[in-house]
Amino acid sequence: MLDVMEAIRRRRSVREYRREPIPQAVLERVTDALRLAPSACNYQPWRFLLVTDPRLRAEIAHACHGQLWMADAPVTVVACALPEAAYKRMGETWNSADVDVAIALDHLMLAAVGEGLGTCWIGSFDEKAVKALLDIPEGAKVVGLTPLGSPLREGLIRPVLEGERKPRSEVFSTDRW
Ligand SMILES: Cc1cc2nc3c(=O)[nH]c(=O)nc-3n(C[C@H](O)[C@H](O)[C@H](O)COP(=O)(O)O)c2cc1C
Repeated sequence: MLDVMEAIRRRRSVREYRREPIPQAVLERVTDALRLAPSACNYQPWRFLLVTDPRLRAEIAHACHGQLWMADAPVTVVACALPEAAYKRMGETWNSADVDVAIALDHLMLAAVGEGLGTCWIGSFDEKAVKALLDIPEGAKVVGLTPLGSPLREGLIRPVLEGERKPRSEVFSTDRW
């Protein structure tokens, strides 16, 4: 098992996948990371669709503005928020559902690294089209998707390099802004 910091360093967006299924036990282990994630007031305002049907996966990839490589992965995870079931007073005024779902999806992406699986957050999609394809009800919101599967090549999962992220001096303040 990978240590958390190691998983954080090694998680990269994988955009090339092997077309081989994920063993059920592995799939259940990694997707449990979604279920175990924290949420405001522990309301868990979410629903995660694990799409394995190849035709549906291809249609989803089309609805993600033609990111067709997604469909090679054996599973597409569609992470949905249920705003009505969420805490609605974050910062006193706003709904926590999107944040809750984002945390859960990130949990999955890190857990996947530990199983040698790749992911890639997909934020570019036609929400209306994805909802229609998967019978997602009106009150649910698609927050993000990710393909889940074995990376096509070993080099696709490599640690984040220093130059790929802003330096500490640009992102941290001590005490005040
Ligand atoms: C909210 C969000 C939306 C994203 N949408 C897409 C997307 O639609 N397609 C894609 O290929 N990558 C997408 N990405 C992946 C980013 O491009 C990627 O995380 C970033 O370039 C850093 O690279 P890394 O994930 O390999 O560390 C998205 C990432 C986030 C967090």
